[in-house]
Amino acid sequence: MSKRGAWRTRFGFYLLAIGSACGLGNLWRFPYVVGENGGGAFILLYVFMALAIGAPMLIAELMMGKNSRRSVIVATQQLEQKAGKGFRWVGRFAVILSIVVLSYYAVISGWVLHFMTQFLISIFSPPEMITAKTNLAALMGNGWLQLMLASVHLLITVVVVVKGVQEGLEKWISYTIPLFAILVGILVLKSFSMPSTPEVLRFLFYPDFSKLTWSSLNHALGHVFFTLSVGFGTMVTFGSYMREADHAPTAGFRVTLVDTAISLIAVVMIFPVAFQASNIPLTDPALMFEVLPKYLLAIRGGNLFGLAFFACLYMAALNASIGLLEVVVSNWVDAQKKMERGRATWYSGMIALVLTILPALSSSVFKDVRVLGRSLIESLDSLLINWLLPMVALGILMAYNRGVAEKEKELSFVDKDKFVSYTMYPHWSFTLKWAAPLVIVLGLVMQMIDLWL
Ligand code: PFF
Repeated sequence: MSKRGAWRTRFGFYLLAIGSACGLGNLWRFPYVVGENGGGAFILLYVFMALAIGAPMLIAELMMGKNSRRSVIVATQQLEQKAGKGFRWVGRFAVILSIVVLSYYAVISGWVLHFMTQFLISIFSPPEMITAKTNLAALMGNGWLQLMLASVHLLITVVVVVKGVQEGLEKWISYTIPLFAILVGILVLKSFSMPSTPEVLRFLFYPDFSKLTWSSLNHALGHVFFTLSVGFGTMVTFGSYMREADHAPTAGFRVTLVDTAISLIAVVMIFPVAFQASNIPLTDPALMFEVLPKYLLAIRGGNLFGLAFFACLYMAALNASIGLLEVVVSNWVDAQKKMERGRATWYSGMIALVLTILPALSSSVFKDVRVLGRSLIESLDSLLINWLLPMVALGILMAYNRGVAEKEKELSFVDKDKFVSYTMYPHWSFTLKWAAPLVIVLGLVMQMIDLWL
């Protein structure tokens, strides 16, 4: 077996897994998906799906990596003998999905970078000079600026990943997570002091089930996979770096809990500001970038609040991008023994950069292209996260279900020192075999029905 990077500490694993899970998905995507799907009832559905379906699948991916000590392409290839021919394609699709999502993610990260720098500049300039630049329309109309910002983001991501597991990733993330936690704490306190808070809490936590649509189940599932980084092979890679003594089910469950908590904190933090600014819930990808800066620049101390907010968002975006790039690199190095890690990282960054061109120009050069009434970037989001991701996640799950013997699964799950692992095993096994595949297929079918209606 070739020499493999491993976490220096158990803490190192948590840092990277949580850093990859908590990203723009929690702070930017979750709030508008909640807005689109009507609030409280969707949040309930989402939390239930995260715990009941997301966590068990995350655990399975970690185990797949921990047992094979390989990334998803080689891991699925090894399972092919028992799982059946063709399953290696599932691993390949997961990696292709990761690089495409990275390129789309880089564009949104670029927007964040733009507003972060604008808020930083605003602290030193008179307000009238700054409002024009913090205007979303100015950024949207300038595709080349978006492309440049996305390239800067990709470059930063590549530099961190080139340094490798111990040097780059563990160190960088161990600095940013505490800072992130402090910033979020301050921001939540600030949001709670806004007059719109009671109304927002009602929208977010009073479930009105009539607001759910045929697609809501799949929107919840797609987002669960996206936010937990399930279905990309990321967790297989992180599992492959886990130490022998670490218990994958405990780790998977903790990552799910932290990620879900951050998403809930995010909506509570962002919705009051958005309501205050426009009196409507967030319902599309760009709205947060429009209402927030406008509102913040108009209030006292708002530019500092804005800087803190966008700095938070950027740290989360970077940590998650690191996870996405790491999947691609680790698979490349595993599958092609001669490929050196540094080179694989630069090449992957360059491929992502080329793929970024389309989403970066979607609101300028391609602004008239509409698919089923949606803009290009919204259609790409929906295609990747609501359609392809659940399918690939299901494929990885099937490879694991069919390729790993029941006894082996039980041995990896049950830890004799953890009583709860005995009691949870039958539930986990049932979910992997029956509940998760059925719910994923049901979600996809209901979404198709919604398209026809
Ligand atoms: N989980 C990240 C988020 O919520 O923003 C997105 C992501 C990061 C998905 C890393 C996959 C991944 F490998």
